[in-house]
Amino acid sequence: MCGIVGYFGPQAPKNILLSGLKKLEYRGYDSAGVAIHNAGEFKVYRAAGKLAELEEKVSKVDFDGRIGIGHTRWATHGLPTERNAHPHKVNGVSLVQNGIIENYAELKKELIANGAQFTSETDTEVVTHLIAQALADSADLMAAIQKVIPKLRGAYAILVVSENEPDTILAFKAGPPLILGQGDGEVFLASDVQAFVEQTNRVVYLDDFEIVKVKGPTFTFYDQFGVEISKPVEVVDISVATSDKKGFKHYMLKEMFEQPRAVANALNPYIDVETKSIDVSRLGLDGAATEIEALKALQGAERIYIVACGTSYYAGLYAKYLIEQLVRIPVDVDVASEFRYRDPVLDKKSFALFISQSGETADTLAALRLAKDNGLTTMSLCNTKRSTIDRESNLHLYMNSGIEVGVASTKAFLSTLAVLNTLSIYLAESRNQINADERAQLVEALLSLPSLMEGVLSYDSFFNQAAETLKNYKGFLYLGRGHNFPIAMEGALKMKELAYLHAEGYPAGEMKHGPLALVDSQMVAVVICPKDKYYDKTISNLEEAKARGGVIFSIGTGQDEELEAMSEHYLSIPESHWMLSGLLSVIPVQLLAYHVADRLGHDVDQPRNLAKSVTVE
Ligand code: F6R
Repeated sequence: MCGIVGYFGPQAPKNILLSGLKKLEYRGYDSAGVAIHNAGEFKVYRAAGKLAELEEKVSKVDFDGRIGIGHTRWATHGLPTERNAHPHKVNGVSLVQNGIIENYAELKKELIANGAQFTSETDTEVVTHLIAQALADSADLMAAIQKVIPKLRGAYAILVVSENEPDTILAFKAGPPLILGQGDGEVFLASDVQAFVEQTNRVVYLDDFEIVKVKGPTFTFYDQFGVEISKPVEVVDISVATSDKKGFKHYMLKEMFEQPRAVANALNPYIDVETKSIDVSRLGLDGAATEIEALKALQGAERIYIVACGTSYYAGLYAKYLIEQLVRIPVDVDVASEFRYRDPVLDKKSFALFISQSGETADTLAALRLAKDNGLTTMSLCNTKRSTIDRESNLHLYMNSGIEVGVASTKAFLSTLAVLNTLSIYLAESRNQINADERAQLVEALLSLPSLMEGVLSYDSFFNQAAETLKNYKGFLYLGRGHNFPIAMEGALKMKELAYLHAEGYPAGEMKHGPLALVDSQMVAVVICPKDKYYDKTISNLEEAKARGGVIFSIGTGQDEELEAMSEHYLSIPESHWMLSGLLSVIPVQLLAYHVADRLGHDVDQPRNLAKSVTVE
C-alpha cells in the first residue's frame, strides 16, 4: 500500500507534500517522510508513527527548493521504524515506493557482494542502490532508471530524485496507481488524485511500465522502451475529501450516520422514482457500441462470477443469494487472491463482476485482468471513479457513496448492497423472472430503505450502553442464514478490525458442526434473526448457544417477544420487505463493533496494521 507524492512548483513543497500525504494517510500510517531540495541537496526527514510526527519534525525547517517527494508507509519489509521509513537516500538519489519488489533479496545479495551498505531492511532501499549504481555509469537519471526497471519483479509505483538533476522527478509504475496533476507552472504526482485535487483537476493516469519525467514545470511521457509518447490530459470531476467530522467523534461514526443519504445517492442514478423502473442506459453505459455488446453479454450470461476482497467480498456473497433467488442464474463468488491463482475454469458465456471500493485492490485488479484474458465480459462496482479497476472493466457501476475516510468500510458497503439489489432486480426483469408489477414493488421497497435506516441509527445509544459490558468478553460468534449470513461475516470482520477481538461469522446452521465447542459464558453470539423463512431454524441455533452458556445479542424484526426473552440484548430492526432485512442488519453490527472498539480506547478511524487501499498482494 503506502502513499507517494511529488511536487515541483512555486508553492512551498513542504506544505504541498504534507497536505498530499495527509490525504493519502488512508493508504498507510505507520511512518512517513519527505525529501525536499534545500541548499543544493535533497534533505530527507523521516519519522515513525502517524504523519503528525513528521509534521512536528519539519515544522521549523525552511527549504529553499521548489521540488520534493514524500511517502506515508504501510510496512511490508521491515518494522515501521524511522530507518525503514521512506525516502531512502543513496549517493544523492532519493526514492519513495508504493509496492513490493519481490526479488529484492537476490538483488540485495548482489549489491552487498559489490560493496553496497544498507541502512534499512526495506526492499525500497535496494531500488535506490540500483539506481545510484546505474547513475555512476551513465550520469543520466532517465537512462539509469531504464537500466534498473528490467531487473525489478513485483508491483510498484516509484518516484525518484537525484542531486545531479535537481529540477527533475522521475516516476514509473507497474501495478499500483500513479497520477500526474498539471497545475499552472507546477506539477503534482501522487498515488491518488485526492492528494492534489484541491490544486488541480487536470490529470494524466500513468499506465504500467510508462515513465514520466517531470523537469521543472514541464513533463514528458515515455513508454517502456524509452520512446516519447503523448498522453491526453483529462479533466476529472472528483470532489475533495472533507476533513470535517461534522461534530462526530470519528469519521467512521459520521460515515455510518451518512448511510441513509449514501444509499439514496447510490440508488439515484439507476432508479426512475416516477415509474419505479431501472434505467438500462444508466447502468454505466454511454451508448458506445462495445458497451452495448457488454450489456448483452450480461443479460445473456449463463453464470456470473463475483470477485472481491474483504468487505467487498461479503457484498459479493450477499449478491449471490439475491441474484440466484431473483434471477435464477448460478453465481460463483470468489476471494480475489484465490480466484487469480486457482486457475479457474471460466466459460466465455459467463460474466464477471468485480467489486472494489477503492478500485485499486491489487488482487481484484489481477482477477479482472485474468477474466478479460479469458474472454469474459466484465463489470466493476467501485466507489472511486476513474480508478484502475473502473477504467479497465467493460461496464461500470458506482457506489456513489462519497469519500470514505474511515479505514474500515461502512457506507461504501451499504451502498454496494443497494446497487447490487438494483442490479438483481434489473436482471430479473430483463430475463423475465419477474414482471413489471413485481419489479415496481421491489423498487418501491428499495426506495424505502433510507428512511428505515434512519430508524435503526436512532438506536446508537443502545449500542453504546451494551458495549460497556460486551467489551469484556473473549470473543464473538456472528450467526445468520440466507442473505444475512454474509452480513454476519461482515459483522465479525468489523469487530476484528476495530476492536481487535476474536470474532467469526458462521451460517447459523453450521454451529453444531464445530463452532459450538467455542461457546461458554465468555462468548457472545450475535444472532441476526429477522422474521423470514429461516426464523424457526435460527431460533433453534440460538437455543443451542444459549444452552451452553453463551451470551445472546440478537437482531430481530419489530416486536419479537420470544427472541427478546431469550437474549441478553435485543435490537429490533423495522418490519420491512424480505429483501431489506440484510441491509437493515448491517447498521447494528457496525454500531456494535464501533462502540466496543471505542470503549476499548482503539483508534477507530485508523485501526492498527491496516490500510484502506491494498495495492500489494
Ligand atoms: C474492511 C475493509 C476491507 C476492504 C478490502 C477490499 O472494513 O474495508 O476488507 O473491503 O480491503 O477493498 P476494496 O473494496 O477497496 O477493494
